[in-house]
Amino acid sequence: MALVCDFGANGKGGISFYCYIRSMIGVFDSGCGGLSVLKEIIKLLPDEKYIYLADNAHCPYGEKTKEYITDRCREITRLLMSKGAEIIVVACNTATAAAISSLRSEFPIKFIGMEPAVKPAALGTKSGVIGVLATAGTLKGSKYLATKSNYEDGCKIVEHVGEGFVEIVENGTANTPQAAQTVRRSLYPLLDQGADTIVLGCTHYPFLLPQLQEQAAAYYGGKVLCRFIDPAPAVANHLVDVMREEGLLKDSPQEGGGSVELIATGSPERLVQLYSKIS
Ligand code: DGL
Repeated sequence: MALVCDFGANGKGGISFYCYIRSMIGVFDSGCGGLSVLKEIIKLLPDEKYIYLADNAHCPYGEKTKEYITDRCREITRLLMSKGAEIIVVACNTATAAAISSLRSEFPIKFIGMEPAVKPAALGTKSGVIGVLATAGTLKGSKYLATKSNYEDGCKIVEHVGEGFVEIVENGTANTPQAAQTVRRSLYPLLDQGADTIVLGCTHYPFLLPQLQEQAAAYYGGKVLCRFIDPAPAVANHLVDVMREEGLLKDSPQEGGGSVELIATGSPERLVQLYSKIS
């Protein structure tokens, strides 16, 4: 994959970029978190063209209103479509919860959203307790609440907002004692309630997986008694299925023809840095 981007300043503090390619798959998030989804998509479709937008000038979305997030998603969709996106992955659980129904009814292209991975967690738990770490917006979304009610008979579902997790990922401060403390503050209440399987319900959180695993192991005196589920691989598989149905997958893509254009509505440094880690 090539990084095709140029973050020249436009002097207005808005989106700054030059476009060299026509992108086919648009992916967006409130910030860098959606790169955890882009990474899984690229594993399956390495030769497609991507345009990734990090709305980091307006991040985090977690506590913002549904109306605010929906307006941001509309603006981002218009931009991605104007640049040639033919299908869009809403690589943000919070934006999916707030806006995907509106996007689907207002725009003539397919949107792939994030799924709360409660089902695989419910099937995999041994303790009968699953934990969900997500933003406040995701946890009160109707999609999540409906999914949760489908599995609540078979297991106990406990939740916690990953307070401060998004900021750690956006600021690149995961390897600090403060980050370890922040991770413990949201993780340990789930472990205290017996959760042995924890859903990462925010696309930023997989970037904290090493810290989550380390703190979970510390809780259990070094034993690995808790596993974390990232829904991104399942979302990537779903995208492939939908693209196939929609006739958007080329039979024989040009090998090595894949490219990624990165756009940040705020500062691009962290996006470029994190992209270089996943590519
Ligand atoms: N990555 C977003 C999500 O999956 C981030 C949340 C935020 O901006 O608060 O929910």
